[in-house]
Amino acid sequence: MADPKKLSVEEILAACRKVDGDAASQAEPPASEATPPAESAATPPAAKTPSPAADKPAAKALPSGEARKLSVEEMLAAARAEKAKKAAAETAAPAAPAASAPADGGKIDSAAARKMSVAEMMAAARGEKDKKAAAPAAKKAPAAKPAAAVAKKEAAPVKGGPLDTASILAAARTDSKRGPMSKAEAAAKGVPVPAGKPAVVAPPMPQKPAYAQPRAPQPVADGSTRRGFMAAITGTLFGSSLAIGFTALSLTNVLWVLGLARFMFPNILTEPPTKFKVGFPGDLAPGQVETKYKAQFGVWIVRGDYEGRDMIYALKSVCTHLGCTPNWLEGEQKFKCPCHGSGFYKDGINFEGPAPRPLERYAIRVSDDGQLEVDKSQTFNEEKGDWKDPASFVA
Ligand code: FES
Repeated sequence: MADPKKLSVEEILAACRKVDGDAASQAEPPASEATPPAESAATPPAAKTPSPAADKPAAKALPSGEARKLSVEEMLAAARAEKAKKAAAETAAPAAPAASAPADGGKIDSAAARKMSVAEMMAAARGEKDKKAAAPAAKKAPAAKPAAAVAKKEAAPVKGGPLDTASILAAARTDSKRGPMSKAEAAAKGVPVPAGKPAVVAPPMPQKPAYAQPRAPQPVADGSTRRGFMAAITGTLFGSSLAIGFTALSLTNVLWVLGLARFMFPNILTEPPTKFKVGFPGDLAPGQVETKYKAQFGVWIVRGDYEGRDMIYALKSVCTHLGCTPNWLEGEQKFKCPCHGSGFYKDGINFEGPAPRPLERYAIRVSDDGQLEVDKSQTFNEEKGDWKDPASFVA
């Protein structure tokens, strides 16, 4: 039989069945009396204090066939009785160790077993079963190794086998380190450390290509040689043609610009003012014809008689035939047109030639300063009777 302190549920049930079987066998007269060796011989006082649970199966003395039909409570009661018996036997033996194993170790104390309820015994049995089931699983599943240890194992190069990329790079960096080196590293590698800052040595300049090399001076095409002469002729022809063409084009553009500028401004006729002064009235002698204003203003200033009155008037120097400019003929005392021979008297009345009517007058007056002022914006015609207008003469 297994250790009663570590019994499982199946073992407890098997023990109960066995106890029931033993009780059934003890119910028979010869067998029950012949086999109580441990109780009668070794522990008579303990046997005399039977537990109430142990009395039931013994008193009933059920047969083995009925023991298989026991309920769980009955079976557990029988198990307790069996354990109580064994605990009494152990306490009777002097060399036997006391049943004082800790409950948390999975061993069931015999004294505590007597006081344990059914639920507690079932819970203890399940806990024992779970521990047994967890033990082999823990043995099979190895403990998770630290990630650092795995990485270190993976990073470590395999001796004699192909190296991974990290190992190759690490070996290359170790063998030939580029860039600045600390003093400690230099001392470890035996490299002499310069005292000051190392001088910067410029790399040599690459040699210039052929097309970038300076060219030798070319001979001037001055016509002294045959090739130079041809080059000079060609350059003169093409160069001059291009120069002439571009010059003509430039001049054309300039003319176009000037013409456009002239087109943008309208034609302006600068005419003499319509009003101008011709001197004082006392400056004119009776019967005098002043011709000095003819060229500039196209007018004669005349002091003469008209209808028996002495007056000053201004005659328009335009022939009434076709617009020619007559001339004053002092010897003949008349205005003579050179175009078709029309003639006018001193007062402007036409008397010969094709002129159809007398000459016209301009308005004249004495200004504020006492000078005679002629206004060409007003004309007076004799055939219309305008000469009687005081604005057409100065008395
Ligand atoms: Fe003066 Fe004809 S224009 S006569």
